[in-house]
Formats: sequence, structure tokens, C-alpha cells
Amino acid sequence: MHSDINILADTSNLFYIGGVVRDKILEKESFDIDLTYVGNAIEYAQTIKNAEILKINEPFGTVRVRIDGQETDIASTRSEIYERPGHLPIITQIGCSLKQDVLRRDFTINTLAQNYKTGEIIDYTGGLDDIKAGKIKVLHDKSFIEDPTRILRALKFSVRFGFGLDEHTKMLRDDYLKNINYDMSFKRLKKELIETFNLNLQKAYDEFMDNKIYKLVTQKEISKTGINIQKFITEYDRLIEHSNIWLIYLATISDLANLELTKEEKKIIKDFNSIENLSLNTDYEIYNTFKNLKTETIIIYGILKNESIARHYLNNLKNITISINGADLQRMGIKPSPVYQDCFDYILKQKLANKNLTSEDEISLAKKFLINNN
Ligand code: CTP
Repeated sequence: MHSDINILADTSNLFYIGGVVRDKILEKESFDIDLTYVGNAIEYAQTIKNAEILKINEPFGTVRVRIDGQETDIASTRSEIYERPGHLPIITQIGCSLKQDVLRRDFTINTLAQNYKTGEIIDYTGGLDDIKAGKIKVLHDKSFIEDPTRILRALKFSVRFGFGLDEHTKMLRDDYLKNINYDMSFKRLKKELIETFNLNLQKAYDEFMDNKIYKLVTQKEISKTGINIQKFITEYDRLIEHSNIWLIYLATISDLANLELTKEEKKIIKDFNSIENLSLNTDYEIYNTFKNLKTETIIIYGILKNESIARHYLNNLKNITISINGADLQRMGIKPSPVYQDCFDYILKQKLANKNLTSEDEISLAKKFLINNN
């Protein structure tokens, strides 16, 4: 926890807010500690003894301070309106009441405030009861229209905490997905997709497909794969970059064009597209097709095309290498030429059939090959 601000400033109007209070009640660790000040947090920060102001975001009324070496963000209470549904809201007031601040938020479970000084929990929406009942409930009927990323947030919190959606919230979600407005901020959507699917939970994928939440990403009808993606990924997770897990799940949905993928993300998908229609009949073909690809691409191939080929490569072929090299062939008196590559390919084929070949075996195979082909 961060340093005690109680001894450095008047904290009567300072509150822990949102996820941190929810997580404390659930006795879970929080990813970040959000503090809000009822009033202007930027002015307030200047009254905290020994606080070093690191960063001010005037339009948002937020400030980052360092106190006793620890960095903390403090936000001003603020109210917002959505002028363009699906896009970032516009701030209408900085320093509004605590109640107005919490009423702009997504779900009742995220609206709790805890007074920094007294520890008292302020609950304007019934959030405490909903946490106890494990219910995810929106604050008003336009919540998903204004911010469709909340549909994913509901999924994320439900799988993270084992919560369920309240019936009315579910109905609002389903209505929205039937009449979806694709004029939205895909950057925010992508952030939530990453946070949801990097949890690597099959349940998230199942709900995403069964409830057609995937409609947020594509207008097409997509059918669900029968493969347990979580299990597949977990088996090979030492070979995967954790931050790419979401992409493996999402690749089962063909059209990710809206998501502004990074170069690396695009390559994972493009590489899959370039091999998906190849016919891979021999170990040599499988090895040569997969050898320079990321495991993420190979698992996508496994899910969408052929699981046993992907597994065979990862389990049996991936680590096979030949030890013979150009210097060995030169020592045999062969001048560098395209025959080197042919020779290496020949030895690789033999080694894929018998991975116990020693380096001496490779040398004798090379001699045999060169006698017949030089
Ligand atoms: N919020 C919202 N609508 C969003 C995103 C956020 O209303 N689309 C509100 C929520 O009330 C949330 C707060 O902003 O509690 C902070 O957002 P974030 O840090 O994303 O949520 P946390 O609840 O802290 O979630 P996490 O534990 O995943 O950090």
C-alpha cells in the first residue's frame, strides 16, 4: 500500500474509488489503486506535505504525485456526458459531488467509494449487495449504447470473479448486440479484448461466442470451435508471449481489420493466412512450413485447420536441428555452392525420420549424398 496521506494533508474528502474498493471487499489484489478527491485534485495535491507533483492532466483534473518515493494518481470527481455514443465521453464538470462521479460509471460493483480518513464505505447504487450476490448490473439502460466496451468489461469481470450478469443487464446487452452501432472507439474495444482474453479462460471464449459478443468485432456470423483453446494454449504457454494470448482466441474470428493491430500482431495473422491452404503431407513439409513461425501462429493453425499437425510439429519436430554446417563440408573438400543447401535438406529429411542420428552419422550421410550428387 502507499504512504499514509492522513498525516500529510486533510483527507476528509479523499476516497478510494471503484475497482480498488471492490477488490478489497472481495479480498483480491488490485491492479491499481484509484483515489478520487471531491473537488479539484490538482489544487488538493499542492496541499499534501512533501508531495512531489509529477504530472498534471488539467482537462481531466488528474494529478500524479510522489510521496515518500511512491507514486499515486489522484483524480478529481468529475461528471461526463456521451455526446457521441461509443466514443470517449466529454467532461462536463470537474469537482462535482461524489454521487455524480460514481453515477457515470459502468457497473454497481465498481461504484463503491471508501473514505480515506475514516474507512467508511459509501454505496450509492447497491454495489455492496451486488458484490455479495456476485451480480454485474449497469446503472442505467443506456450504459451499453453509450459505451459498448462495457459489454466486454462485464464479460471480463464475470469470468475474473465468477460473477453473473443481472437479467435486465443481460437483456440490454442482447438488445444492443442485435442493433449494434459500429461507429465506436475500437482502441478502447481492443484494450478490453486484450484484458479479457489474456486471462486465458475458456469460459470467456464460450460466453463471447454463445452470447454473440463477438458481434462487437465483426458483422459476420461465426461458429464456435470445438477445441478447448485454454487447454491448447496452456500446454504450450512456455513458447508463447503472454501478451499475445488474446490474439489466438480472436483469430478464430476472421475479421480483425478494425482493431488496428500492431506490426507483430498483423504478422501472426498474416503468417497463418499464408499457410492455411498448404497441403502438409510429410514431416519435412511440416517442419519447413512452421520452422520460422511464432508458436502463436502454429496454435492458430491447430485450432482452425489441423490440430494434430500443429501438435506433431510442436511435440516432435520443433527441436530437431542438424549439426553439420558449411565448415564441415569445406573440410570434406567441397567448394561452397548450392549443393550445400541440397545436402543440408537431405540430412534434415533423414533426421526428421530418425532424430537419434549423431553428428558422425550426419557426416557419413553427407559423404554419401555428395558422392551421388557432385
Ligand atoms: N469505467 C467505466 N467505463 C469504462 C471503463 C471504466 O465506467 N468503459 C469506470 C469503472 O467504474 C472503473 C473505473 O472507471 O471502476 C476505472 O476503470 P478501470 O481501471 O479500467 O477499472 P477497474 O475496475 O479498476 O478494473 P481493473 O481491476 O481491471 O483495473
